[in-house]
Amino acid sequence: MATSDLVDLRSDTVTRPSTGMRRAMMDADVGDDVFGDDPTVNRLQALLAEMLGYEAGLFMPSGTQSNLAALMTHCQRGDEYLVGQNAHTYKYEGGGAAVLGSIQPQPLEHDADGTLALERIAAAIKPDDPHFARTRLLALENTIGGKVLPLPYQHAAADLAHEHGLATHLDGARLFNAATALGVAPHEIAAGFDSVSVCLSKGLGAPVGSVLLGARDFIDRARRPRKMLGGGLRQAGVLAAAGIYALEHNVARLADDHANAMRLAEGLRQIEALKVDGPYTNMLFATVPADSVGALEIFLRGRGVLIMARSPTVRLVTHLDVDAAGMARAASAFRDFFARH
Ligand SMILES: Cc1ncc(COP(=O)(O)O)c(C=O)c1O
Repeated sequence: MATSDLVDLRSDTVTRPSTGMRRAMMDADVGDDVFGDDPTVNRLQALLAEMLGYEAGLFMPSGTQSNLAALMTHCQRGDEYLVGQNAHTYKYEGGGAAVLGSIQPQPLEHDADGTLALERIAAAIKPDDPHFARTRLLALENTIGGKVLPLPYQHAAADLAHEHGLATHLDGARLFNAATALGVAPHEIAAGFDSVSVCLSKGLGAPVGSVLLGARDFIDRARRPRKMLGGGLRQAGVLAAAGIYALEHNVARLADDHANAMRLAEGLRQIEALKVDGPYTNMLFATVPADSVGALEIFLRGRGVLIMARSPTVRLVTHLDVDAAGMARAASAFRDFFARH
């Protein structure tokens, strides 16, 4: 089966650059970005800084590196950041903050809506005492597991952090999905955060790239960890061009991904053996009987539907390379599997 015929629901990172995006990459004007000379990288950084209300931006190869460079810029060795148990910056980045930054994570339980309760945040801020690491930073994520954090909550959490002298970082890998779901301008999602990391390689459809945004002196300081982490790229304009194309062509259409997630959820809800949670923006979660998850993955693959079945609760993600017909195909394949099992 050709890759274009697959309904790949494993992640929104699986998209392939479109013809228009590839053309933009080929035509990009480039220079040495470590010297600050790449005009296309500079344009992307300026564009996102303008869109999100920051002074400056810094292009990074990946969201993981962008988040880690942010943590290493906000925190010094022996400092601590407060973060959700399920946040990417804690759970899914190889422990990079601790391993490479000597920064201690203080993970906190989430409430069901993805927030970290304000009282829990306040209680976790350590007093100035040599027994403790220095609590320096609150790191939130929006969307988290597809869920959009309420804006009043974000403002209150950022205010609380700032009142205690903490800096704030937002992992906004899917910030544009949050803005689309709330129907607000993207800068409203970023408001109150000293830094934000945005991914171009998720729902926006670029093959590579994230941008870290912040005040100019913060971004200047973030250049050192970026270099240290191997993220100083040379003629990176070919990659940044894909990011600019994504911002110009693929933001408004994120609503289609949310609508497709809704279609898929409706289709799967007809199946008795499944428990469906969501959709939340472009994600939903289907819990299947534990003994059928492996067989389901194999069966679906045979029908051209890809899922990542690591546990009985399977995350399904929509993106610009799947459409409404694909949702119907996926739901029908799930139905046929459970008719036999
Ligand atoms: C919320 C979130 N933050 C950060 C990242 C890291 O991005 P990357 O895969 O580009 O390192 C991901 C990747 O899936 C993510 O989902």
